[in-house]
Amino acid sequence: MHKNRFTRVGFILAAAGSAVGLGNIWKFPYITGDNGGGVFVLVYLATVFLIGMSIFIAEVLLGSNAHKDGVSTFETLAPKGKKYWKYSGFTFLTGFMILTFYSVVIAWIFNYIVLSLTALPASFKDSETLFLGFLKNDIYTQLIYYTLTFILIALTIAKGIKKGIEKLNNILMPALMLILLGLLIYSIQLDGFMKAVDFMFYPNFEKFKSGSIIVAVGHAFFTLSIGMVTILTYAASLDKDVNIVKASIWVVVMDTLIAIVAGLIIFSITFTAGQEPSKGAGLVFITLPAIFFEMGTIGIFLSFLFFVALAFAAITSAVSILEPTVMYLVERRNIERKKATYGAALFAYVIGIVVLLSNTAVFSESLTFGSKNLFDWFDFISSAILMPLGGIAVAIFVGYILDKEVARNAIVPHTGEKFYNIWLFIMRYVAPISVFIIMLKEIGIITI
Ligand code: PFF
Ligand code: NA
Repeated sequence: MHKNRFTRVGFILAAAGSAVGLGNIWKFPYITGDNGGGVFVLVYLATVFLIGMSIFIAEVLLGSNAHKDGVSTFETLAPKGKKYWKYSGFTFLTGFMILTFYSVVIAWIFNYIVLSLTALPASFKDSETLFLGFLKNDIYTQLIYYTLTFILIALTIAKGIKKGIEKLNNILMPALMLILLGLLIYSIQLDGFMKAVDFMFYPNFEKFKSGSIIVAVGHAFFTLSIGMVTILTYAASLDKDVNIVKASIWVVVMDTLIAIVAGLIIFSITFTAGQEPSKGAGLVFITLPAIFFEMGTIGIFLSFLFFVALAFAAITSAVSILEPTVMYLVERRNIERKKATYGAALFAYVIGIVVLLSNTAVFSESLTFGSKNLFDWFDFISSAILMPLGGIAVAIFVGYILDKEVARNAIVPHTGEKFYNIWLFIMRYVAPISVFIIMLKEIGIITI
């Protein structure tokens, strides 16, 4: 084995570390709440397993074949005369947009880890005042935690794949899973547990809006980290003889399970306290802390564990968002890894400060454009437009441009012909067409 490559388990944990993040524990529960539960979860599961997993497999396939950064991967694997496909490797740039708002949320999480131990809000009103006050007025504390976030990310990436990224995930991912398991066991004995199960899995079609489909598809890309060469870049450090289909299935199943478990935990606690889950982004930062306070001592403990788990999940993802850029700078620009890391991190750090300020009272007006502030725009543009576009590029490349033997040799020996044919059909037709239609609707060109 190559000395700077992941072990098989190391890859699965790192890719799962990338996939499992704010998307699972913060976003998934609140968008499920906003979109009425049941049917939304079904649409989400269907998209994740049909389209999401297929593109995930495709990224692992490309990365583990070329062993290079995103741009060079497409360039190497494209046939003569079609080398311009290398430009679809530049989707790592989407990462800058995501990393900015992502790190701002990590800063909130750090704040709530500390608040869990010092001063949880005593009522829902207090909780709302506390959270909004923190966002709008406490620029100083936000900046401290935000800076700390970037230092952690940069220190990890600077150490490289084995000593930095693999090691971080080998520690944080098992810890995360243990904490979530503990919280799940606690939730199962709560009165609200069955209501939570019902809310997530009972398909109530009346509550479903067609707009929810877009949210589900956008989230399928975001949650699996696909469409911006992140998974491809991690797979570049994976040996080719690994069963890439099995490894991919592991990661997708873990990501989905953790989203569902996080949803069950959060909804059980919310329903048990007699609250409603349709509270938008504040579900985790406003509703939960107030409920934790009401629980007394056990609440402090649960709150601390919950926000620590959220921090672990988010940091391993944040690291994976920046690594493709660093890999590009190292391989194509011949920049030394440490320098590349600090440069790229500094660049994202500076843009992120502007994003952070767009939530504050002083700057919110000048940093709001149309219906959204910069924070919400970055979230929307990256997960609803750029990641799906990057995903389509992968699907078309693998479905039409890549030498068929490359894909066949990497997949058929592990799965047989049938799986391969279905997968190829999804790459060629299902993924590009469905994502394209959904994006047209999203931008408002068509209405369905
Ligand atoms: N998959 C992560 C989550 O669900 O929070 C977010 C993410 C990580 C998106 C890495 C994109 C990426 F490249
Ligand atoms: Na995820």
